[in-house]
Amino acid sequence: TNGSDFIVVANRLPVDLERMEDGTQRWKHSPGGLVTALEPFLRSRSGAWVGWPGIADAEVEAFEEEGLRLHPVGLSAAEVRDYYEGFSNGTLWPLYHDVVAPPVFDRSWWESYVKVNRRFADACASIAAKGATVWVQDYQLQLVPQLLREQRPDLRIGFFLHIPFPPVELFMQLPWRTEIIRGLLGADLVGFHRPGGAQNFLWLARRLVGLEPSRGAVGVRTRPGVVQVGDRTVRVGAFPISIDAAGLDAIARSRETQARAKQIREELGNPRRIMLGVDRLDYTKGIDVRLHALHELLAEERITAEDTVMVQLATPSRERVEHYKQMRGEIEQVVGRINGEFSRVGHPAVHYLHQSVDRRELCAFMSAADVMVVTPVRDGMNLVCKEYVACRYDLGGALVLSEFAGAASELTSAFLVNPHDLDGVKNSLYAALTVDPAEGRRRMRALRRQVLTHDVDRWARSFLEALGSASPN
Ligand code: G6P
Repeated sequence: TNGSDFIVVANRLPVDLERMEDGTQRWKHSPGGLVTALEPFLRSRSGAWVGWPGIADAEVEAFEEEGLRLHPVGLSAAEVRDYYEGFSNGTLWPLYHDVVAPPVFDRSWWESYVKVNRRFADACASIAAKGATVWVQDYQLQLVPQLLREQRPDLRIGFFLHIPFPPVELFMQLPWRTEIIRGLLGADLVGFHRPGGAQNFLWLARRLVGLEPSRGAVGVRTRPGVVQVGDRTVRVGAFPISIDAAGLDAIARSRETQARAKQIREELGNPRRIMLGVDRLDYTKGIDVRLHALHELLAEERITAEDTVMVQLATPSRERVEHYKQMRGEIEQVVGRINGEFSRVGHPAVHYLHQSVDRRELCAFMSAADVMVVTPVRDGMNLVCKEYVACRYDLGGALVLSEFAGAASELTSAFLVNPHDLDGVKNSLYAALTVDPAEGRRRMRALRRQVLTHDVDRWARSFLEALGSASPN
């Protein structure tokens, strides 16, 4: 048969299906970092991508898009509600992000999660060539490795978690904790952003699966970086993800981008300094934190709305999930309050856009910004901060970055802040706004050295190399 020998399984396809008013459908490109990174691997072999088209009740056949085989997995409206909005984003997302919001434990959501994970595993099993490599992505699909292995022990299976893996005492709250750990142990290699995540996983594998061999299950033992499941070896490690740094650097250097950056500064009234935030509108991102800091800096007249303008680009996300609705309301209220107190007609203190912005425009904003503010209360990695660094080939600009983003352990020359410490955030923002230019360049040079040498291609390669050396069966 002509099955695929390299398969990516992710909740989303690299394209989104859009339903028009007249009922027709069309595909919209949404080239995320992941597809850019994996494209070379998908093309060099006979590669395929298994994922959800992004809307409920879509009936679409497998198709080929610029040499890439795409295999849509359909979700009903109830499954979007229970598996995607429910268990993935109402249970796992808040639990894994240190319970920043209270996770909801709902048994029918869990049942839907199991059912949908099985559907992804089945889709993958039916198209995989003998001995194929399968790379399963992220928290929505943690049961897929095990479900796939049961049907296809010939496959080489990798799993990567793109969000933080929580401390053990938080993970232990999950009623289905053992099932999740067993699901992940179906892989030959389980990857996390940080060594701490790998440590937590090893501890949980030993604690939750290793101590119950009497139930007829295979015995599990662990040693550093390895879980031994019977005679099968599961490797566990840290693989910090990154971005297409060279690609962004090139876009930033282009005349169009620089012209657009200049234009953005003019449109903002040529203020002395521009602060920029770019995030999915998510309660983990600490958008409120930076707005409160800005409010106080203005109120204390350490800065004025004439000389310092803030731009917050917030991409709409998961809009039907309760906590996201609530957060949006709160943020828009704070934006309204700051503008009410400090703006002049035609010159708002905060420019807030609840819209998605394309890659080139984003790059122009980053080129125009004197200070990039990234203040998540918890973030697996955070790629926006790396993108900012990749755009600043001129060594201009300063980065304010939360210690609670995975990226903080790489980007140590940023102005690092604890987002829970409002005075600290204010002082660091002010320090970044007023940094001596030579000191700013020194920091940016160090940041760029890290980001340009550790790009997403290197990430994908190192994961796949580790998977290749994992034992085949
Ligand atoms: C995070 C997750 C991804 C997810 C993305 C967008 O980065 O790790 O798995 O795709 O957010 O969220 P969405 O729910 O729209 O797919």
